[in-house]
Amino acid sequence: MMKPLKSIQDLEALKEAALDRIKERQVAGKTTIVVGMGTCGITAGAREVMMAIIDEVSKRNISDVIVSQAGCVGMCQHEPMLEVIKPGMPNVMYGHIDEEKARRLVLEHVVNGHVIEEWAIVQRD
Ligand code: FES
Repeated sequence: MMKPLKSIQDLEALKEAALDRIKERQVAGKTTIVVGMGTCGITAGAREVMMAIIDEVSKRNISDVIVSQAGCVGMCQHEPMLEVIKPGMPNVMYGHIDEEKARRLVLEHVVNGHVIEEWAIVQRD
């Protein structure tokens, strides 16, 4: 669990720090899918989302994808969340993801290169 946030600036700083940590994990040329596995993420179903992604990536024989996990990013209300970091595209944080949406994201964003705008909560170049 995290310390209580006192302002919107605290929240923004926390989010930026978390996104920077995610970016550091990015491996050149590969797509990284980062699933939020903080307490609230897990409570909301992040484990099932993670398993669905791993299964879909494996079924589709996609080899240039890294599936990773992050801790709390301070946005409980959007969990389960994941970020897709694909070279040549903006980094996109998706919220309220379930197993079915996770599988669709692998196809639409990772394979076809299309952002699913209605599920995106943050996009960064
Ligand atoms: S557990 Fe930290 S924001 Fe939810």
